[in-house]
Amino acid sequence: MIEKTVSLSELESLASDFVRTLKQGDVVYMMGDLGAGKTTFVRAAIQSLLGYDEAVPSPTFTLVQTYDSTPLIWHYDLYRINDPEEVLELGLDEAFNQGITFIEWPQNMGNVYTPKHYRVSLETTANTERRSITITAP
Ligand SMILES: Nc1ncnc2c1ncn2[C@@H]1O[C@H](COP(=O)(O)OP(=O)(O)O)[C@@H](O)[C@H]1O
Ligand SMILES: [Mg+2]
Repeated sequence: MIEKTVSLSELESLASDFVRTLKQGDVVYMMGDLGAGKTTFVRAAIQSLLGYDEAVPSPTFTLVQTYDSTPLIWHYDLYRINDPEEVLELGLDEAFNQGITFIEWPQNMGNVYTPKHYRVSLETTANTERRSITITAP
């Protein structure tokens, strides 16, 4: 378990170190309010594997983005899911089998999928440039 308060650059290097400990089949729940830094963390993880010039858009509207990294990465944002059944169309079972899966707003899956998962929790702090981050293993 990791628990600390980090600047933006510290969060990005933590994401880079963290993703390198993961393997195919690992699932990461990204917890925290809007603006907490979930997408920023996942972007840094993906760019660490693919190169920092790679564009990593937020999946806010597309719901999922996939990356041809090794291992493959699926990045979900389920914020706009209203009914847990909607996630059945999003290829999560394929993601869980074939790559590393990051999920923002996993609460919106309800009980449709309940994989073992890492949990990265982000919270804003009194200092607007810092975030408190907690990472727990499955
Ligand atoms: N220490 C920090 N860690 C992460 N993000 C930070 C930090 N300080 C400022 N930010 C900013 O906070 C915003 C987080 O946005 P985003 O990652 O899209 O949040 P979320 O996906 O949780 O809604 C970004 O604009 C980012 O630059
Ligand atoms: Mg986001």
